[in-house]
Amino acid sequence: MAIFKKAKKSDDNLSIKDIVLPEHIGIIMDGNGRWAKKRGLPRTAGHTAGAQTFRRIARYCSDIGIKYLTVYAFSTENWKRPKEEVEAIMRLFKDYMIEAITDFQDDSIVVKFIGDRTVFPPDMLELIEKNEQDSKDRDGMVLNIAMNYGGRDELVNAVKKIALDVKDGKLDVNTIDAQLISDSIYTAGQPDPDLIIRPSGEYRTSNFLLWQSAYAEYCIMDVLWPDFKSEDLDKALIEFAKRNRRFGGV
Ligand code: IPE
Ligand code: IPE
Ligand code: MG
Repeated sequence: MAIFKKAKKSDDNLSIKDIVLPEHIGIIMDGNGRWAKKRGLPRTAGHTAGAQTFRRIARYCSDIGIKYLTVYAFSTENWKRPKEEVEAIMRLFKDYMIEAITDFQDDSIVVKFIGDRTVFPPDMLELIEKNEQDSKDRDGMVLNIAMNYGGRDELVNAVKKIALDVKDGKLDVNTIDAQLISDSIYTAGQPDPDLIIRPSGEYRTSNFLLWQSAYAEYCIMDVLWPDFKSEDLDKALIEFAKRNRRFGGV
């Protein structure tokens, strides 16, 4: 487990150079719709703006040396939204994935997708797999893009996988432990998130990284995602450095 150098709470002039950064950050990219509404624009304009923010912030995280970044882009519940909105979001995913393959060839970022990908059409699936394949041997930040992701869905799938192994005699029930569950979910092999940032001011997880966030520090911020700047990320990082993480100890 990483040792965190704690910033002193009295220190108001900290910069991110003075603190130990979290290894894994999760971001719930929320507030696109409200951002658009405030400007009298359709919700889809908010998603377009949010996709630009995602590009900037992912780059920034990689530049400052974050090892893992997980962004919540589309939940298993977001299919309830109007068809035009869902289609617009899917088009933005596609644009990003095409761009990532062609423009990011010399990049160090490892791109992974977490969530139930079986529902995506073949062309999307191909882009997902190509992005993962092309970037898998890089040595930079791991960027997990959560698309059709739900924490409960992830656990249901893990339970099914484990139950099948028990049924087939490959696994003894008594050997099931927390580590096996961590190894059976989408983020297998990765450290749990240290910090989860939710812009747009909502105090809920909305089904994001349920298992992995057991000891994550939450930072709820009032800014809407399309307005989120690198300075806001710095603020969250400094706030994180001041927290006293105890993991159940004293
Ligand atoms: C987050 O922004 C993007 C997705 C959930 C896909 P929202 O679209 O939820 O924005 P608000 O919460 O309505 O403002
Ligand atoms: C969570 O935001 C999902 C993403 C940001 C992708 P929602 O906007 O879907 O969450 P609720 O409905 O406000 O809980
Ligand atoms: Mg929302």
